[in-house]
Amino acid sequence: MANLARNNKILLELVQRPGNNVCADCSAPEPDWASYTLGVFVCLNCSGMHRNLPSVSKVKSIRLDYWDSSLVEFMQKRGNSEAKAIFEKCVPTFFYKPRQNDCIVLKDQWIRAKYERREFTGENNRFLQIYTSEQFESPMWKKGRVNKQFLKRNFLLSQRDFTLKYFIKEDSKVPKAVISMKDLNADFQPEKIGHPHGLQISYSEDDHTRNLFVYHDDGQTVVTFFNAIRATRLAYLLRKHQTLRNSDLVPQLTSKSLKEGYMEKTGPTTRESFKKRWFTLNLTNRKLLYLKSPLDATEKGFAFIGSESHGYSVSACSGQSKRGGRWRWGIFLKTPDREYVFMCEQESEQKEWIEAFRKIISQPMTPEDYANEANLRRGK
Ligand SMILES: *[C@@H]1O[C@H](CO)[C@@H](O)[C@H](O)[C@H]1NC(C)=O
Ligand SMILES: *[C@@H]1O[C@H](CO)[C@@H](O)[C@H](O)[C@H]1NC(C)=O
Ligand SMILES: [Zn+2]
Repeated sequence: MANLARNNKILLELVQRPGNNVCADCSAPEPDWASYTLGVFVCLNCSGMHRNLPSVSKVKSIRLDYWDSSLVEFMQKRGNSEAKAIFEKCVPTFFYKPRQNDCIVLKDQWIRAKYERREFTGENNRFLQIYTSEQFESPMWKKGRVNKQFLKRNFLLSQRDFTLKYFIKEDSKVPKAVISMKDLNADFQPEKIGHPHGLQISYSEDDHTRNLFVYHDDGQTVVTFFNAIRATRLAYLLRKHQTLRNSDLVPQLTSKSLKEGYMEKTGPTTRESFKKRWFTLNLTNRKLLYLKSPLDATEKGFAFIGSESHGYSVSACSGQSKRGGRWRWGIFLKTPDREYVFMCEQESEQKEWIEAFRKIISQPMTPEDYANEANLRRGK
């Protein structure tokens, strides 16, 4: 008993130290679990994924479980920084390292890649070759453009011409679509797509955003596909911007919307009724897109969100349900061209949207933003 308390105390002190004070796998603060075979401190969430790999990792709670002195000594000797030097010795720059809020398949595959497949220890470069090969080919289940059904399609990612193509049949000669790496984005969206491995691929086509929704039943395949897309984007961007370095380009490989969700909106006149729409807000291009439903192939419309000094503002407004609207948490968005009222179902949603709009509005516009704004207003 005395030993239990003493050893747990040592661990609780150890976990405060720099390196150990965040989860070794997702960087969540204050981990309180540890793998005593790998010598890393991890969060509760990642400990669950370690538990699925009993041949490489065994976990215990540093507070509640009994720790032998020999295991504590190993934790003292190893720890997160030392483990990182071994298991993350050569992570390719394009490889996506998940964070606390990322979806399970990204975290699970990261943990498997690190400790089970030992992809980054430098033992061999078999895996690097898969991500960076000239062609990456795999079938994926893809949602039909109009119907909800997912159909098997063959996807081909190519570093020769920097494209992603897909084919209806395995032996099809002509691709159904050829997508340039130029503005392609990939983002895991398990909830929206309704599959734990659901991946959204977006790109521009004729001034619209086109969305594809895919998944693969095997987690490793879909995460490899995602990282191969990132590798191909990096190769493309390095070619296009020869003066930029990897560290400038890595944040641009793939991105997430600043915020997504349902709100109700009206048309441009005050007589029209409120309709529920799915909105996505992009911090980079300052565009608020709205779609009829979240898995639509393209948007119904959009608004450009400029900066405060250019006549854009956002505020909360008290809602009364009127003109067919059911929700009461209102947002008033003013642009030089139009005033929008959006209604949210929950107060927390209203707060999050306002915060997201403010983030964009408070950010100065770049010369590119001015050009975009002018183009978009001319197009109206
Ligand atoms: C782990 O985190 C994911 C989201 O990142 C969540 O969906 C899941 O429920 C969490 N699991 C546990 C055991 O906390
Ligand atoms: C946001 O816009 C930028 C620039 O157009 C684009 O590259 C990026 O993929 C977009 N992000 C999302 C999540 O759609
Ligand atoms: Zn974690």
